[in-house]
Amino acid sequence: MTPLSHSSCMIANWITPSSDYGEVCPVFRKTFSLPSQEEVMKATLKITSLGLYEAYLNGNRVGDFIFAPGWTSYDTRLQMQEYDVTSFLKGENELQVTLGKGWCAGNLVWEGHQNIWTDRLALIAELQIALKDGTFLSIITDRDWESAKSPIQYSELYHGETYDSNVVPSDWSPVSLYPRDKSCIIPQEGEIVREMQRLKPVALLKTPRGETVLDFGQNMTGYVEFSVHGPKGHQVTVRHAEVLDKDGNFYTDNLRKAKQKITFICNGKRQTYKPHFSFQGFRYICLGHWPEQVDLNRFSAVVVHSDMRRTGRFECSSPLLNKLYSNIVWGQRGNFLDVPTDCPQRDERLGWTGDAEVFVRAASYNYDVNRFFTKWLHDLKTDQFEDGGVPAVIPDAMKDGGGASSSAWGDAAVICPWQLYLSYGNTQILKDQFDSMKKWIAYIRAQGEDEYLWNTGHHFGDWLGMDANPGDYVGSTDKGLIATAYYAYSTSLLIKAGKVLGVDMSEYEVLYQNVVKAFQKTYLPEGLPTSNTQTAHVLALYFQLCREEDRERIVQNLVKLIHENGDRLTTGFVGTPYLLHALSQNGYAEVAYTLLLQEEFPSWLFSVKMGATTVWEHWDSLRPDGSMWSTDMNSFNHYAYGAVADWMYGVMAGIQPDETHPGYEHFFLCPVEDKRLRFVNASLETRWGTISSAWRRENGKTVYEFVVPDGCTATVKIGDICETVRGGRHLYRIG
Ligand code: BGC
Repeated sequence: MTPLSHSSCMIANWITPSSDYGEVCPVFRKTFSLPSQEEVMKATLKITSLGLYEAYLNGNRVGDFIFAPGWTSYDTRLQMQEYDVTSFLKGENELQVTLGKGWCAGNLVWEGHQNIWTDRLALIAELQIALKDGTFLSIITDRDWESAKSPIQYSELYHGETYDSNVVPSDWSPVSLYPRDKSCIIPQEGEIVREMQRLKPVALLKTPRGETVLDFGQNMTGYVEFSVHGPKGHQVTVRHAEVLDKDGNFYTDNLRKAKQKITFICNGKRQTYKPHFSFQGFRYICLGHWPEQVDLNRFSAVVVHSDMRRTGRFECSSPLLNKLYSNIVWGQRGNFLDVPTDCPQRDERLGWTGDAEVFVRAASYNYDVNRFFTKWLHDLKTDQFEDGGVPAVIPDAMKDGGGASSSAWGDAAVICPWQLYLSYGNTQILKDQFDSMKKWIAYIRAQGEDEYLWNTGHHFGDWLGMDANPGDYVGSTDKGLIATAYYAYSTSLLIKAGKVLGVDMSEYEVLYQNVVKAFQKTYLPEGLPTSNTQTAHVLALYFQLCREEDRERIVQNLVKLIHENGDRLTTGFVGTPYLLHALSQNGYAEVAYTLLLQEEFPSWLFSVKMGATTVWEHWDSLRPDGSMWSTDMNSFNHYAYGAVADWMYGVMAGIQPDETHPGYEHFFLCPVEDKRLRFVNASLETRWGTISSAWRRENGKTVYEFVVPDGCTATVKIGDICETVRGGRHLYRIG
């Protein structure tokens, strides 16, 4: 059942338990009578909460939204859902709603913040019933509701849940009204988070340490549903981990403070359970005190993420690249849980702007992320600081501005809306965000020692670059170079956005020219970047910041740096997303393919060869000898380096949007082949229909086959061919 979206105006009251239940999740109830089920014409439940809610009407779960009402910047934007519940009503009715802490009140951020947006769990709901005789009834949250302790004894997103199946809510007592503003309540804006898929365990392991471990074969985000039969009062535990260590033991050090632990208290009968307000990032689970023989059929891993429409498909003749592609898609599933997060497992799981910014293009090929990112960008706008700075995570769970407004991170304010415009022709998002985009540029403009340079302040730099000093997280590219490069790039996108909206952008055009000049003078004084790093070269090329006469020298030097490093990359979060593009746009697609096909560390395929099923945070999360890079910052499900999928779709298969006809009304088909592959097949569902692009080797020739949806046009660019084609199938044989 999909929530309807209507008016967000609520006449109901916020209610909260009148006594303190400690860690136990409260359940609220209201009973009411109706003439009969037949008399009900239509019934709608409007509901939201401070904390997460699960609503049941006469024992039926209302809707299938997991972790409702979702995660937004709750102070200003709290989504309300509307559900059609007509079929659930009877003569005598009971509406029950359980609340959990979730993001709003629970433990969030590695420093152990609590109650970031509220110190009370609270509910607001209205059940509107239209009877066939023309009467309207309204059941609203008010003093007539009651609350009690639920069987959920403890629930935290990071830490797991404790469920006592012996508890039946009793001692119902009247609730209190909670004086809290209702003006922040908005209709559902994002995608619905749902249970999307179920995986069965592929193996039962006994580790060297003697642990009983189940392997689901895939690192993922969600929770485990299990059935267990234990004596009344017996406690079982289920812990979650992404990897096993070198010796094959269950490994949880990389979770830092996140416990990811389920405790279930049996009641003497067979019970089936899954967590309510907690999710885990895991491939393996470790069972504790299991009271019966472990039967794999009694366990399912439930994959939970925002229900986005899958739009992109890619495959090629390299099984390793296909596995990398699969890992990237799994990374998106695991980290698009209402907010684009860095990782789903450790004590973080935050909407890091930089990660979202580097991945948004790949993400928008894989899935339709238009609605998903629209909601998040509206949160970015609302959380943006007065001076135009952008919090490092959105929703701003840090609140103290810690690490805020770093270049490449805050640039999400400009880069993400522009991507939605390119991929979906979404002009509205440019309108919605234009002020926020301008504020970000104004913020940058006020930072540097010079108006046209950004060489001050805190920056994450080329985060996790391989050219970092030992033990450091930050690659060695000059942070001022990176910041000024992004200053120019974001200004160029703002100018384009302004032009789409019909705004006079001449002031920004002058600004852009001056920033580029300042960049060239300061960071390319003699043509080559002052930082002799791959990332510096990539930015100068990809962001079009170099003088035309220096371009060839820069790209040749980049190629030299790559060769000198054994045909391997050194780039971090900033350089990696554009590395292959910078090469292929400048005549070195073959080198780009070499990097992509590289199997030695550091490379994308190294992780694949090491058995990865998602994309790692570090190139060396797991080292060739099986040891871990560190316990501190070592996620095995970080999508950032999965940004390379946009090169797979956009260059290997050559499907690229056209900014003058966004949303694929007109697009480019410009695949770049490589002798090391036999074929590439990709497709993309757009609002015009499905585009497909494929090439294969046949009798010494390359055969290209394209499908252009009716109603739109594409420009085919392969070899010397450059022609515009209309809807239909198009075949080219070259060589
Ligand atoms: C996150 C990153 C993030 C970074 C900021 C980390 O803790 O996991 O993905 O972008 O902090 O540098």
